[in-house]
Amino acid sequence: MKVQDYHEYLDEVLITEEKLQSRVKELGQEISRDYEGEQLHLICILRGGVLFLSDLMRQISVPNTIDFMAVSSYGTERRTTGQVRITLDLEGDIQGRNVLLVEDIVDSGYTIASVLDILDTRHPKSLRVCTLLNKPERREVEVPIHYCGFTISNQFVFGYGLDMDEYYRDLPFIATVDLERYKPEA
Ligand code: IMP
Ligand code: MG
Repeated sequence: MKVQDYHEYLDEVLITEEKLQSRVKELGQEISRDYEGEQLHLICILRGGVLFLSDLMRQISVPNTIDFMAVSSYGTERRTTGQVRITLDLEGDIQGRNVLLVEDIVDSGYTIASVLDILDTRHPKSLRVCTLLNKPERREVEVPIHYCGFTISNQFVFGYGLDMDEYYRDLPFIATVDLERYKPEA
């Protein structure tokens, strides 16, 4: 199967590489101020959060560690339906640690809500959420967001960790999709 060239369905570049990098730097500074004198445990939700995590952690000046978790929703990729299942659990214990969840995007909110529920039972010292993108119009369940890169409208986006059926996570910018021109089966 040939992968469709993203130029064919890219609608507009919503957030340029420069804007992403400068916002990530600001977030890193804000987080560093908030956790001054503390240690921070960053938990990246695979796979979408991986580029954000790797840039963000380089902008954080307090001592930090990282771990990874993967979840899968019971719905389809573009429409989640509530509960999520852990497909890869954390390596380490989070009890007594300052945990910061690093996510690519909060859409319906189900993913973050479920992950927060699960992690809360493990008794971290603190538990917060840092998301690169927030789509508030799509929210179906209330979730606390402590740090947010950009609020966007109800559009499907890809790049900088976010995928189009698993491809193009590597792009350094975030773009919107023209779904009429997207032909996954072609
Ligand atoms: P939620 O559980 O509905 O909040 O969904 C969050 C997950 O859905 C994200 O971690 C993404 O994997 C995926 N997702 C939601 N919106 C988009 C998008 O616009 N582009 C790519 N993935 C998305
Ligand atoms: Mg994701």
